[in-house]
Amino acid sequence: MEENKTLETTAEVREKTIHESIEVRMENLTKEFSDKTGKITVAVNDFTVSIEAGKLIGLLGPSGCGKSTTLYLVAGLLKPTAGRIYFGEDDITSRPPEKRGIGLVFQNYALYPHMTVRQNIVFPLENMGVAKDERNALAQEMAELVHIGDLMERKPNQLSGGQQQRVAIARALVKKPKVLLLDEPLSNLDARLRLQTREEIKRIQRETGITTIFVTHDQEEAMSISDEIVVMNYGLLQQKDHPQEVYDNPVNMFVAKFLGNPPINTIKGFIKNNSLYIEDVNSASLELKDKTGILIEEIKESDQEVYIGIRPEFFKVTKDGKIKAFVEIVEHIGRDVMAIAKIQDTDVEIRALVPSDTKIKANETIKFSYSKYFVFNASTGERIK
Ligand SMILES: Nc1ncnc2c1ncn2[C@@H]1O[C@H](COP(=O)(O)OP(=O)(O)OP(=O)(O)O)[C@@H](O)[C@H]1O
Ligand SMILES: [Mg+2]
Repeated sequence: MEENKTLETTAEVREKTIHESIEVRMENLTKEFSDKTGKITVAVNDFTVSIEAGKLIGLLGPSGCGKSTTLYLVAGLLKPTAGRIYFGEDDITSRPPEKRGIGLVFQNYALYPHMTVRQNIVFPLENMGVAKDERNALAQEMAELVHIGDLMERKPNQLSGGQQQRVAIARALVKKPKVLLLDEPLSNLDARLRLQTREEIKRIQRETGITTIFVTHDQEEAMSISDEIVVMNYGLLQQKDHPQEVYDNPVNMFVAKFLGNPPINTIKGFIKNNSLYIEDVNSASLELKDKTGILIEEIKESDQEVYIGIRPEFFKVTKDGKIKAFVEIVEHIGRDVMAIAKIQDTDVEIRALVPSDTKIKANETIKFSYSKYFVFNASTGERIK
């Protein structure tokens, strides 16, 4: 009974609030900033990406990599140094922000403190010639969509952080924008609320079908909420793909390291005569031809220095494992055991996540095998296997 009701309500909401979905495309987008001394920062560097209509894209990367700048270029709050932006077939590069049909939500909700929730949501519709009754009906509709319909007469300081953020989202949606832009919308919330609110955002996005760019530096958040992830570093596009694909098939060492917690182990190694080695500690400073190490795989690749990438969960403790390591610490974390161990004859410390029934103790030497590994060129970081 209860379930039926929910379904009906969702269908009604969808019918009322459905937005025209539109593709967003950035072509060779570049944004340079210059400071007073003339020093130039390339915040966004020849960035080309297209976002399918109706998709939620997580724009992910470390602090300073150009995420917000990219979002503000799409919003029209910043002018690109070069490149074009398209909404569907329309080149909107020179269009002012208010004519782009975007809804923008920032990290600090920026609600008007002296206004009620209703007034905050209605605000973008004032000066637009929308009749008062219709304005209020639209505000109510958006408030229902984000599940704050019963809080309309409260002031922002009478709301929780998550509720305030939903008011900000309702306000961004009230003009029925074609594109929703969210800049770290959850970072002011505590862990629990962040989890709840991100599920809310996902639901709202599904119900409206609005093309959405969600900026975050939190890989777990991006993985869980996004249809696709766009990974960025130093203003450059690194990879765009489904979250699982980015995790399973990173294009380079940066992406491999940025996704996953605990992070992937990257072990210094080399390829010589079609064999892959872990470099031993005594040959670390030598030239490639003189290096020695622990042979772990045959590999058909040219001679080069590499990093071997092994995610903690790829490790297994087995009698015939090729990686001998001295276990320093064993931590029981529920379902799994995390072992921190040092690979013999190296300085390399690895983290392995193994099932909790694995026989493993600190201060003993054991052998690890691995179900999967990546190989990255040591100087470019490009993945070669
Ligand atoms: N108005 C500006 N003038 C000069 N440099 C700027 C300006 N805005 C941003 N930058 C620089 O551009 C780069 C990208 O900044 P941006 O704010 O886009 O990063 P971000 O990925 O959003 O980082 P964060 O996760 O910390 O919010 C940074 O090096 C930043 O210092
Ligand atoms: Mg930012």
